[in-house]
Amino acid sequence: MPEAHDSAEPIRSDDLIDLLSRKVIGQPSAIEVIIPSIQLHRSGLAPESRPVGVFLLLGPTGTGKTRTVEALAEVLHGSSHKVLRIDCGEFQSDHEIAKLIGAPPGYIGHGDSKPRLTQGHLAEVKSPDCDLSLVLFDEIEKAAPAMTQLLLGILDRATLRLGDGTEVDFAQTLIFLTSNLGARGMMDAIKPSMGFTPAGSRTPGELSTQLDQIAIQAVRKHFSPEFVNRIDHVVTYRPLDAESVAAILDQHIFELERHVHTRLGARSFDLDVSAGARAFLIERGTSPEYGARELRRMVHRHLTQPLAALVADDAVHPGAVVHVDVAESGDALSLRPEGGAARPERRIEKVLVVDDNEAILRWTERALRSHRYEAVTASSVRDAGRAMASTRPDAAVLDYVLPDGDGVALAMEILGDHPDMVVVLMSGMELDEEDELVCRHLDIPILTKPFLVDELVVLLESREAAVPRARWRTA
Ligand SMILES: Nc1ncnc2c1ncn2[C@@H]1O[C@H](COP(=O)(O)OP(=O)(O)OP(=O)(O)O)[C@@H](O)[C@H]1O
Ligand SMILES: [Mg+2]
Repeated sequence: MPEAHDSAEPIRSDDLIDLLSRKVIGQPSAIEVIIPSIQLHRSGLAPESRPVGVFLLLGPTGTGKTRTVEALAEVLHGSSHKVLRIDCGEFQSDHEIAKLIGAPPGYIGHGDSKPRLTQGHLAEVKSPDCDLSLVLFDEIEKAAPAMTQLLLGILDRATLRLGDGTEVDFAQTLIFLTSNLGARGMMDAIKPSMGFTPAGSRTPGELSTQLDQIAIQAVRKHFSPEFVNRIDHVVTYRPLDAESVAAILDQHIFELERHVHTRLGARSFDLDVSAGARAFLIERGTSPEYGARELRRMVHRHLTQPLAALVADDAVHPGAVVHVDVAESGDALSLRPEGGAARPERRIEKVLVVDDNEAILRWTERALRSHRYEAVTASSVRDAGRAMASTRPDAAVLDYVLPDGDGVALAMEILGDHPDMVVVLMSGMELDEEDELVCRHLDIPILTKPFLVDELVVLLESREAAVPRARWRTA
């Protein structure tokens, strides 16, 4: 018997429902049928000889079928990627099915086709918190008939025999099949063409029943009865209503805000998206044909990108609120930053980088430029002298070991002439005692190679807060 879920504190079922319904909006029937199978698994009472649950998810495009499986992975395993996903569109001919199970030894293609459905792959999508693997066969109606045969074995006995004879055990899995079967009929039902009953004359309940019937009929027509009998639940997704669409947009905006907060840290700001701007995004990002599929792209195009441009231009002060509204033209959003504290003016503009390693030089140069510093490079003490004379940088980043001298001696020379310069040493080795003492004395920070761009930038930024340079002379 499979072991019950053994994490220290598994998420309670109520919380699971709550978490999932916040991620998958307006599809309660999907959540209702999925949760009991997770309880079954946790109880340890799931039968060993078949998958824990088999679900066929049907319904119009962009209503959350695939999102449901991703959201479940987020809740159970902490990442939407913890799903073994098979895009059935890739397996439209029977011989392509070999890509799933690997060709038997001796056959052409053995060795160069790595099976996609192995025990190892199933294990990869588990997590320390949960030992249930989620397997998604997306758009199954697109796959060749051999796929149905293969699935029959998995659904019935929870085993799959690979090309090389090994058996894969699917007992600890939830299997999701999604399909657009009946989608055309559903579309006609949702948005009848001229002369048919207008959608408005039915209640949402009547439409739901009608969609269920269309879905079941399409499934029975397409799959054999023995296949249909092995499916535990057929769920028909509903067209999203206005309230659900608004909630999905809220999610996207919330995600964007969270991204801003985590990426910009102390420099971050808030968003205030007006009702008009929300309506603008919903109008362009949702439709009966594509559900909420385009919403994310519209948010990206009309909100994320213009916001990124503002940030890159330094037009948003830390702590500001960016008000988002519909532009006067009516075909774009306007972003208006308000408040926040201006960043202190930059004291460091030009940075000299001295290293005889060409690759590091180029990398550092690019990194600095991407943070809008001007970079000047030199590959020896002699070159550095010339660069100092001709360009007069505000900061210098010096390699410890140089072909014609060393970084510490160079730093002392530079600071002797320009005590207000910021000097940073980079080194791939420990400094000798005397050099270390000099650096400490002159307050020269040491960057240990390899370092991240951010480490260098943070160092430079921290030194921007003007250090009284006078003490350098007395040091
Ligand atoms: N019910 C929903 N809850 C939350 N987000 C949703 C929902 N429906 C759609 N979305 C949004 O739209 C995107 C597309 O949805 P999803 O991929 O789940 O569509 P689908 O139903 O699988 O459609 P298809 O039949 O075309 O594969 C999601 O990534 C999500 O951003
Ligand atoms: Mg999908």
